[in-house]
Amino acid sequence: MIFKPYYAFETGCAAYLLGCGTLGLCAVVDARESEVDAYIAFAAAKGMRITHVIDTHVHADHRSGGPALARRVGASYCLHESADVSLPFEALTDGQEIALGNTRLTVLHTPGHTPESVCLVVTDLRRGAEPWFVLTGDTLFVGAVGRPDLPGRARESAGELYDSLHAKVLTLPGDLEVFPGHFAGSLCGAGMSGKPSSTIAFEKRCNPQLSMTREDFVAALAEVAPKPDAMEHILRANRGRPEAPR
Ligand SMILES: [Fe+2]
Repeated sequence: MIFKPYYAFETGCAAYLLGCGTLGLCAVVDARESEVDAYIAFAAAKGMRITHVIDTHVHADHRSGGPALARRVGASYCLHESADVSLPFEALTDGQEIALGNTRLTVLHTPGHTPESVCLVVTDLRRGAEPWFVLTGDTLFVGAVGRPDLPGRARESAGELYDSLHAKVLTLPGDLEVFPGHFAGSLCGAGMSGKPSSTIAFEKRCNPQLSMTREDFVAALAEVAPKPDAMEHILRANRGRPEAPR
């Protein structure tokens, strides 16, 4: 397997290029606009074709490089089917498997941070049939969880996030490694660690937001401050609607 994280330490953002070196097929997850050339160059150097460009959700904190990257390499730009965007995309569904040679991604729909959020469970068939790690987007961070990101729906979104985490993410095997979309320095959650990866078992034991009751979790997350104007602007661009609503 080829697995290359792209960590932006100034903003706490993580993107991932991963796939099968043997068969030369890969995906890029949560691509950033400023790194499109770097993903293309790395894939070319490894003799890999980028077949899928996946955003775990519509980002509000940085310009996605997903649509541009997908266009340049002739790949599918993928989002969960519930994504509210004005761009063409391939709709992902809960439980769907994406085959990248010997690497398999399984889509878990985990609404809460946003309605269209997904996690991607990764299996390397050359190592075994069991999943090895999970890309958690902005659903689960190291030491924190995503903030409910939809204005006016904080309590409802927080409840959805609690349910997604407890029903779908924390039920994964404890030894699965966790690679989130952000780490310390990002505005997409509070209290994130500066260490960009963890395991399900360690987060269950040590992440303070995962041991709360649903009621306490919703109360704590609903306190979230409104997004800065710049984030609204970025969100509109990532939805393919750059003009301000009238
Ligand atoms: Fe986000």
